[in-house]
Amino acid sequence: MDSIWKQTAELPRFAPLEGDLKTDVLVIGGGMAGLLCAYWLDRAGVDYALVEARRLCGGVTGNTTAKLTFQHGLIYARLLREFGLGRARLYLEANRAALGQYRELCREAGCDFQERDAYVYALTDRRKLDRELEALERLGFPAEFSRTPALPMPTAGAVKFTKQAQFHPLKFAAAIAKGLRIFEGTKVLELAPGRAVTNRGTVTAENIVAATHFPLLNKHGAYFLKLYQARSYVLALENVPEVGGMYVDEGEKGLSFRDYKGFLLLGGGGHRTGKKGGGWRELEDFAKRRYPQAGIAARWAAQDCMTLDGVPYVGRYSRGTKGLYVATGFNKWGMTSSMAAARLLADLVQGKENPWAELFSPSRRVLRPQLAANAWESTMGLLTPTVPRCPHMGCALKYNPQEHSWDCPCHGSRFGEDGELLDNPATDGKRL
Ligand code: FES
Repeated sequence: MDSIWKQTAELPRFAPLEGDLKTDVLVIGGGMAGLLCAYWLDRAGVDYALVEARRLCGGVTGNTTAKLTFQHGLIYARLLREFGLGRARLYLEANRAALGQYRELCREAGCDFQERDAYVYALTDRRKLDRELEALERLGFPAEFSRTPALPMPTAGAVKFTKQAQFHPLKFAAAIAKGLRIFEGTKVLELAPGRAVTNRGTVTAENIVAATHFPLLNKHGAYFLKLYQARSYVLALENVPEVGGMYVDEGEKGLSFRDYKGFLLLGGGGHRTGKKGGGWRELEDFAKRRYPQAGIAARWAAQDCMTLDGVPYVGRYSRGTKGLYVATGFNKWGMTSSMAAARLLADLVQGKENPWAELFSPSRRVLRPQLAANAWESTMGLLTPTVPRCPHMGCALKYNPQEHSWDCPCHGSRFGEDGELLDNPATDGKRL
């Protein structure tokens, strides 16, 4: 089933590229990050073009829960510990600025923008919340401890950020895409610095931005080791009381809550792509227990790229690829991260300094235990002798009975039962 966003918005259509093209900046990928990048380049008067293999915002952006907040779980205590005060503050500032930019743009966009408070709750461990509040105090941002009376289960409380927001991501995308130089149905088949061969012609560009969710090129940047993908699930419930704010569990496998026009969007059931997890069944069980009168109006799932240290990779694709840039690894916080990434990349391709460049640099040191976990999954996937195999790097695919798809535990490519490509990094469908 389509997400509630896809059911209630009409995106403008753009013709495919016809023949070769020369431009200063090529943006590959028409999700929120690519679109915003094109938007800021357009505003800056830069010569650019955006190519999208299928339709605008057909991937993650159409399946998000669309929370606009710089409260990304309990991230600030972790950032302080691992990155130090300066970088933790930069992360907060980059995402706070992103929320401000959405607020501005949403004024004219007609995208159901609503100011709401955001909460990260803990089911049992109040100490984690206290540590986050202390970290935020050190960063000079006044968060509050809060009870969570609107939630249908007991919690140990929550960290509350006031004046955050929620919106309709596709109504927003439809508004800002107007007048941009976009080519849909234009798929990149080969990519190298300065040149992209598409199914409709070759694009030559001094700078290229890969905003393709999972990066396309395997031979640079080692993204197949530095990223993994995770699935999470959403139910739109009707006949349920409003929660009034945006709530997420501090635990990786917990639930999230937000309202949209009489529906409660209940998220959760997450797992690494290609592995077993709760899925919609977990959400249905929760709804039956806590909202026995509820009906399910829609269900959908999202796919997210997760980095090793919890901070997105935005900047030069790799040290050795001049003029090639990337934005990926938004760790389930794709809305503000897309905006921050777009602002940063728009500066970088124009040769401007940006204070966030080092924090988000994909070439930063990312030695974390997750690197070994990713390498282990890839090795196991390659050694598992079953068919079908994934065309990306050859791992064994696993059948996902809830979504009727074939999913790859190595880097998260997904295929329909008919072999149609659903999610990258694979670039083509699979004969199953
Ligand atoms: Fe890389 Fe399947 S996604 S091998």
